[in-house]
Amino acid sequence: MGVCGYFAVSRKCLVVLSLRLLFLLPAGLPVRSQGDSQSDNKVMDNITVRQGETVFLRCSQGDVVTHTAWLNRSSILYAGEDKWSVDPRVSLVVLNEEEFTIKIENVDISDEGQYICAVQTRSRPRTTSVHVIVQVPPKIINLSKDIAVNEGSNVTLMCFANGKPEPTVTWKLLSSTGLVSEDEYLEIPSITRQRAGIYECTAINEVSTDVQTVELAVNYPPSVTEGRDVGVTLGQTGVLQCEADAVPAADFEWYRDDRRLFNDLDSIEIEDDGKISTLTFYNVSEVDYGNYTCVAINKLGSANTSMVLYEVIEPTSSTLLQGPGAVQDGNSGTMGTHTSTCLLIIIGLQFLLKF
Ligand SMILES: *[C@@H]1O[C@H](CO)[C@@H](O)[C@H](O)[C@H]1NC(C)=O
Ligand SMILES: *[C@@H]1O[C@H](CO)[C@@H](O)[C@H](O)[C@H]1NC(C)=O
Ligand SMILES: *[C@@H]1O[C@H](CO)[C@@H](O)[C@H](O)[C@H]1NC(C)=O
Ligand SMILES: *[C@@H]1O[C@H](CO)[C@@H](O)[C@H](O)[C@H]1NC(C)=O
Ligand SMILES: *[C@@H]1O[C@H](CO)[C@@H](O)[C@H](O)[C@H]1NC(C)=O
Ligand SMILES: *[C@@H]1O[C@H](CO)[C@@H](O)[C@H](O)[C@H]1NC(C)=O
Ligand SMILES: *[C@@H]1O[C@H](CO)[C@@H](O)[C@H](O)[C@H]1NC(C)=O
Repeated sequence: MGVCGYFAVSRKCLVVLSLRLLFLLPAGLPVRSQGDSQSDNKVMDNITVRQGETVFLRCSQGDVVTHTAWLNRSSILYAGEDKWSVDPRVSLVVLNEEEFTIKIENVDISDEGQYICAVQTRSRPRTTSVHVIVQVPPKIINLSKDIAVNEGSNVTLMCFANGKPEPTVTWKLLSSTGLVSEDEYLEIPSITRQRAGIYECTAINEVSTDVQTVELAVNYPPSVTEGRDVGVTLGQTGVLQCEADAVPAADFEWYRDDRRLFNDLDSIEIEDDGKISTLTFYNVSEVDYGNYTCVAINKLGSANTSMVLYEVIEPTSSTLLQGPGAVQDGNSGTMGTHTSTCLLIIIGLQFLLKF
């Protein structure tokens, strides 16, 4: 046991010594041209590998090799078939007269750097160095939260991403075409309601893309479309409508002159659907005719419009002209249509005869 231990240690010592003395001091490794007479220092093409993948480090041997080693900066990973690295991700793939290949699994950013294959042959020492570049997919790490602002505010959204190579960050508004910003910051001075929506931040590099979205709501006070007066016959159903545009959605109030109206399921019903409020009169009576005001309110303000519910006496020519869909029952409705069609034909004929 002790002998074995002694031998193991001494073998390592020997290798270190020979590596140090014979051919290299990696820290100050001179980069010499291939034609150098003393030694042969070759630089291989860079190896690009993605984080998490496996990289193979391959070095050709040739001649009669006495010692050979793979180094990560100044530390030996493998000396011949002896593993010196304690890192379980590092292992030997091939060691024969032609090649000496090791692999590093699950590569991480800290593995990036120069790796050196040092070979001692009968004739001369020789090193081959290779630069391993580790790429990392972009990841958005700091993104503005969804927000609601008032119209006219200055808004700044931000999106920070990491990755290797450094990702490019851009912003766009999903409902419109074209880029909004080619920067981590998106600045929107004095925002208008048209610029509300879902903003998308994209971080992209050679490896892949990361995309995240931010919802930007723009609050503004209600505006109402002008109310339309409605004519209804006694005993029929009448509906007044009020439409408001507002963010957040408006609450509605209905007034008859100065008196606020509330649901009274026997006679009236008020229904809101966010944008439109309806005031329905079941079985309109004389006292219902009058002037109604709808007020739309949100936290930023209010707006109102008035409309009149007026009486329509039946039957009238106007209801007849509306055809069978109007108030009448089947029979008189058909008659009404016939009458109006006849009238139209007569008027048409008279018009033609004038020419
Ligand atoms: C290899 O990578 C290094 C470091 O990124 C760079 O300086 C060098 O130009 C690259 N060489 C080749 C051949 O691409
Ligand atoms: C290479 O050396 C660096 C710096 O000492 C270390 O962080 C990294 O884990 C090493 N990689 C391997 C595969 O040995
Ligand atoms: C994100 O950025 C904000 C503002 O610059 C900063 O206060 C916050 O600490 C950052 N969060 C993270 C997780 O980096
Ligand atoms: C928005 O920015 C402009 C110019 O930078 C400034 O004059 C204005 O006061 C800001 N508005 C608000 C609401 O902060
Ligand atoms: C409608 O109202 C009138 C008078 O108020 C009443 O006589 C009638 O029965 C009502 N009709 C219906 C269907 O409720
Ligand atoms: C209805 O009421 C509103 C508000 O009280 C008023 O401005 C409007 O002139 C009235 N309309 C009619 C037709 O009386
Ligand atoms: C309706 O709006 C006018 C201004 O547009 C305002 O003077 C009035 O007080 C409002 N009426 C109600 C009931 O809110």
